[in-house]
Amino acid sequence: MNNFIFQNPTKLIFGKGMIARIAEEIPIEKRIMITFGGGSVKKNGVYEQVKDALKNHNTIEFWGIEPNPSVETLRKAIDLGKKEKIDFLLAVGGGSVIDGTKLIASAIPQDTDAWDIVLKGSVDWEILPLATVLTLPATGSEMNRGAVISNSTTREKFSFASNCPVFSVLDPETTFTLPKNQIANGIIDTFVHVMEQYLTFTDINPLTDRWAEGILQTLTDIAPKIYENPRNYDLMANFMLSATMALNGFIAFGVPQDWATHMIGHELTVLHGLSHGHTLAIVLPGTMRILSESKGDKIVQYGERVWHIDTGTKEERIDAAIRKTEDFFRSLGVSTRLSEERIGEPTIAEIERRFTERRVAFGENGNVDATIARRILEDRM
Ligand code: NZQ
Ligand code: ZN
Repeated sequence: MNNFIFQNPTKLIFGKGMIARIAEEIPIEKRIMITFGGGSVKKNGVYEQVKDALKNHNTIEFWGIEPNPSVETLRKAIDLGKKEKIDFLLAVGGGSVIDGTKLIASAIPQDTDAWDIVLKGSVDWEILPLATVLTLPATGSEMNRGAVISNSTTREKFSFASNCPVFSVLDPETTFTLPKNQIANGIIDTFVHVMEQYLTFTDINPLTDRWAEGILQTLTDIAPKIYENPRNYDLMANFMLSATMALNGFIAFGVPQDWATHMIGHELTVLHGLSHGHTLAIVLPGTMRILSESKGDKIVQYGERVWHIDTGTKEERIDAAIRKTEDFFRSLGVSTRLSEERIGEPTIAEIERRFTERRVAFGENGNVDATIARRILEDRM
């Protein structure tokens, strides 16, 4: 097991009616900017609950943080926040609103341009405190430091490390208005977050392996039930908790991590506008296939414990595990092949070019370079 230091300061406030609690969590003297996406919160009562809770606080609103939040939009929020002397941020929405708000909180105390902060990769100054009201289980951003920001001018999408939210409210009822495609994105994103931290080598940390497999088993168990009944509180509560636990540091204790699937997926989003979860459903089976030599033992363990594949040769078990994974994504209604999205060789060549230029070395072995990325994508045609 590798050495590690773990500290996650986010206070989780979980359950029905808990949005009202934010009034007690934010000091009354704070000047708060509440950030939103495109308006889903006005259709599900979340906006009213937040406004009601903060009726005695000093608040301003910023609307329009789009999916795959763009630095161009966020610069407007940063300017407004500076002008209004904001000293607390409350993100209300999915991962995009939360990620965008992490950049706003990081940039307000600085004179540096927001994109330069993203390119820097992490913050080493005191940023404004931020908190969240989550409405879409997927990214884990409500309990981690990460933020993924897009630049629509340069067509790039990069992550940087900011701070964890001071608190996050997770009320499963806020998810009842999610359309099926967003539920699918959230389930796939959660699944692949686990896989990026789990699918490396066997026998490093059996405890985090079991935690990771527990999240994967929970997802495969509840996904079809959620599709039948998206307004079932307990199912959505389990989904929400799975998504948070998949990327808040717990299953990463002392283990190597991969993240190649995410890095390739980000390129498909900027080049073709595919949603984040969808790109992962396309790429992951290719990562498993092309890296099956180094990941083989762990794929066999995954197949046995998550999909009950316990017969056949090693190769047959690996094949079956990859097939089960792809079938699971397809059962959620998403396509898993580039050709289904009319994406072909020009895109593969462009991603290869970008990765060559950036000299990337992703994956737990640092061997996913431009050439391996090409092979992974070719496998997904
Ligand atoms: O904008 P509004 O109107 O709120 O609508 C949103 C948006 O259109 C809608 N939505 C959210 N909650 C809803 C709802 N619609 C109905 N009912 C609700 N309760 O869903 C749409 C998508 O929202 P978005 O926030 O973009 O989705 P998600 O949470 O999947 O976030 C995706 C972004 O997070 C990044 C991705 O790259 C992408 O940019 N990621 C962030 C990570 C992190 N910070 O740790 C890790 C992830 O790997 C991921 O890369
Ligand atoms: Zn993700």
